[in-house]
Amino acid sequence: MNLQRSFQRVYGFLLTTNPAPCCYSVRLKHTKEEAAAHRAKVMAKGLPERKPLPGVKNIILVASGKGGVGKTTTAVNLACAMKVIEPDKEIGLLDADVFGPSVPLMMNINGEPMLNDDHLIEPLLNYGVKCMSMGLLVSGENAVVWRGLMVMQALERLTRHVAWGPLDCLIVDTPPGTGDTHLSLAQNLPIDGAIVVTTPQSAALQVTKRGVNMFEKLKVPIVGMVENMSHAICYKCGTKNYVFGNETKQTAEQMGLEIIESFEVDHNMSECINSGKPAIYALPDSTHAEKYRKLANKVFKYIEDKEKVEEHAKAKE
Ligand SMILES: Nc1ncnc2c1ncn2[C@@H]1O[C@H](COP(=O)(O)OP(=O)(O)OP(=O)(O)O)[C@@H](O)[C@H]1O
Ligand SMILES: [Mg+2]
Repeated sequence: MNLQRSFQRVYGFLLTTNPAPCCYSVRLKHTKEEAAAHRAKVMAKGLPERKPLPGVKNIILVASGKGGVGKTTTAVNLACAMKVIEPDKEIGLLDADVFGPSVPLMMNINGEPMLNDDHLIEPLLNYGVKCMSMGLLVSGENAVVWRGLMVMQALERLTRHVAWGPLDCLIVDTPPGTGDTHLSLAQNLPIDGAIVVTTPQSAALQVTKRGVNMFEKLKVPIVGMVENMSHAICYKCGTKNYVFGNETKQTAEQMGLEIIESFEVDHNMSECINSGKPAIYALPDSTHAEKYRKLANKVFKYIEDKEKVEEHAKAKE
């Protein structure tokens, strides 16, 4: 009997046997209103809450579906080039590849980051760029076993527990694929645009298409496509060799994307990366460095245009 009463108390409005009429009608009215409020609350929760990072004006992702196509090389050189062409602007570089962080090596940063008075992690500075990476917080061997929720918690730390501000632009290097990291970043941060890096190989381009579709679904605008390792030039005769194929232009057209820069294979690039001195500093007169500066200019222009459109839309409201 007691058991039945307590069951009735908790689930009373669901019981069909012997409900008290007045109690039933009051509950029903109340339940409708409550249900509407509850639904609105749940829906608001379900929608991604893209909270800005304090002090960070713009966020640009560097992504690709496929691994090893040169995302980190692009992200590192782009961040440095942005600092070189606009020295008064504050640029940050977030290594969101918690499984295989390579920004510490490529930016030659090491050492334990410090906590400031607000208990935020101070990013490490090199080449004038504020950097943060899971590689600075845990050892690489630990990072590779992280999955799902842990990845999201790690990203939360790398974004919201770091003293990024003030920053004009945060460049985010992402891991390969279209997984938890991309979803988490796109759902939690107001991303201004994604740069999609690819090689001209059809396998890479197919995966790139998936990546672009994912960003479209997540309502992340695409800045454009960067073609990396487009071709190699023979040292002896200067002939162009399309070692990975030559399908980028066609694929970009199909997807309605612009190829905003194209980089050939250059063995100096890997040497720069291994020595922790990005090409933009190690070989400032090289074609690659020149192209990274052009890419940086395009990104600044993209941000400027986007801000103008947003201001215009606000003024109209
Ligand atoms: N244009 C280039 N010419 C020659 N080597 C390059 C070029 N771009 C990148 N590399 C080399 O290719 C390798 C992979 O580059 P990188 O680490 O930037 O790729 P990634 O897409 O970030 O890889 P991952 O998916 O593992 O994160 C590196 O050794 C890098 O030095
Ligand atoms: Mg990488």
